[in-house]
Amino acid sequence: MSGKKTILSGMRPTGKLHLGNLLGALQNWVKLQDDYNCFFEVADWHALTTESRKTKEMATAAREMVVDWLVAGIDPKKSTVFIQSAVLEHAELHLLLSMITPIPWLERNPTYKSQINELKEKDLSNYGFLGYPVLQAADILLYKASVVPIGQDQLPHLEISREICRRFNNFYGEVFPEPQHVFTSVPALLGIDGRKMSKSYDNCINMSDTNEAVEKKIKKCYTDPKKIRMGDQGDPSGCPIFLLHNIYRKEQTTEIEAGCRSGALGCSDCKKALLEVLAPLFTGMENKRREILSKPDYVNDVINDGNKRAKAAAGKTMEEVRNAVFGKGHV
Ligand code: TRP
Repeated sequence: MSGKKTILSGMRPTGKLHLGNLLGALQNWVKLQDDYNCFFEVADWHALTTESRKTKEMATAAREMVVDWLVAGIDPKKSTVFIQSAVLEHAELHLLLSMITPIPWLERNPTYKSQINELKEKDLSNYGFLGYPVLQAADILLYKASVVPIGQDQLPHLEISREICRRFNNFYGEVFPEPQHVFTSVPALLGIDGRKMSKSYDNCINMSDTNEAVEKKIKKCYTDPKKIRMGDQGDPSGCPIFLLHNIYRKEQTTEIEAGCRSGALGCSDCKKALLEVLAPLFTGMENKRREILSKPDYVNDVINDGNKRAKAAAGKTMEEVRNAVFGKGHV
């Protein structure tokens, strides 16, 4: 397609997207849309690797995530937005790749090891979870993506994708370009309780929050516990509000920091100043969401059309894959 390089990236539909997702991944995707042939995937099968009992919720979660993407500025005229489980070729390629993936590559994957330790409440001793990176390799290779925007935490997965890619090309002939990662710079954001912003901590400011909700969250947001009243000297490091000033009011950060440290600026005024820039942002997102949802079939049409485009590309690659693996003329 038009000599542009192909990008594939994806997210698991595991809940509402928050400011961290917007700043870390989505705004970067939006920028890439003009210069690359972009595929953005709702990785619902990946979500099942840890949530195999939540199958019924998946379709709604997938759709809601697509709405958040559209609100962020993903343009379905430029990019292909699709649902992994609607393109069955992912399963076929995953199966063929599983034949050439040594189990030790998967067992030594640091993400696998740490998740097994961290998510103790979940039973992750299943075949699908071990094979998570094989499915991710299938996602990328199916579209012959050469560029994969990811957060730093995804690097081990991408390295496995590259190894699988090389092994495939080696065994069966050059079919796939080797995918390169580009890191999306994740801003240092903290949740409203001062811990890392994460849906598992329920401390997020979500893209779909109303201004009222944002105001409530900011007002009760954690700040330096030693700074209690106006005049108290504070320490902005580790303050979620200060980090947000740093992103949305960059020019004023020196002033904010000095005011916080000297005690001249109280937390309540500091929060008010932040809300003044957040309000138009959230109003904008709310209006955009309303507009998107006001057209009855729009989101379904975006998804159906994206699925079709993805399926066409995936089907083409699978023909090449079958020819490479089994030889031409294979059923
Ligand atoms: N594993 C990724 C995550 O959790 C999501 C994902 C699935 C993905 N398939 C992908 C990312 C392909 C990049 C490319 O964030």
